[in-house]
Amino acid sequence: MPIRVIHTIAELRAALAASPAVGFVPTMGNLHQGHLDLVRIIRPQSSLVVASIFVNRLQFGPHEDFDRYPRTLPGDVDALESVGCDLVFAPDEPELYPVTQGYKVHPPPELADILEGHFRPGFFVGVATVVHKLFNIVQPRRAVFGQKDYQQLMVIRQMVRQMALPIEILAGPITRAADGLALSSRNGYLSAAERAEAPQLQALLQHMAQRVRAEGLGAVVAIEAEASAALAARGWVPDYLCIRRREDLQRPDQPGEPLVALAAAKLGATRLIDNLEF
Ligand code: PAF
Repeated sequence: MPIRVIHTIAELRAALAASPAVGFVPTMGNLHQGHLDLVRIIRPQSSLVVASIFVNRLQFGPHEDFDRYPRTLPGDVDALESVGCDLVFAPDEPELYPVTQGYKVHPPPELADILEGHFRPGFFVGVATVVHKLFNIVQPRRAVFGQKDYQQLMVIRQMVRQMALPIEILAGPITRAADGLALSSRNGYLSAAERAEAPQLQALLQHMAQRVRAEGLGAVVAIEAEASAALAARGWVPDYLCIRRREDLQRPDQPGEPLVALAAAKLGATRLIDNLEF
């Protein structure tokens, strides 16, 4: 069966009425191998795979890249078809937000106002609101999110748990280019020189993890500061490079806790994020 592209909620609901185990891949389009890997992960566990493509204005700040975010629907549909996606839901703004979205999902500030949420105020309200709405529309049995957006995955997992949504959330490992750069729709903004520099973000996270293993938690503050300075010296503008515990993204204080190193920094006009569990 060729892939179907549906633009309205009513048509989508009709198309999904008889599907017992829908697998869902929410995206904003401009897809890369990382997105296609998410489809590959959920495909075997689903009677029908739906990907959504919607650039969600609610999660962009006033000075962010909403207007220039690439809209590449025809190529995205072909790519999704090549990995076995059955249906693309691509609503326009008036379909998803016919009136101003006054009802919103506010994730708890201790999770949503740190790290990404600190530097992108309102980001996780926008993400949680659209994902909750898409879940209501698609009503999937399972949904998959990339681990590159580590905090986003945590926000969504907690939303599903606290709201008792009957959806299993799967995590897709980060897909990387051969030189280590995490694939991202925003990598396309990088100039050739910036693209050559970009893998340094992952290299620095690996270096931070090695140092924490060698020097212990007492050295974390110094390791974070030195990593930030090293990146700045290479011409980046770091938002954060930090070591957090995986459980709740707070500062670690007990030896042996599972940790994650997280980074966000601007290279030229492009903001990149990455992380590394260790
Ligand atoms: O990760 C993304 O692409 C977006 O934040 C998501 C989950 C599709 C919500 O707009």
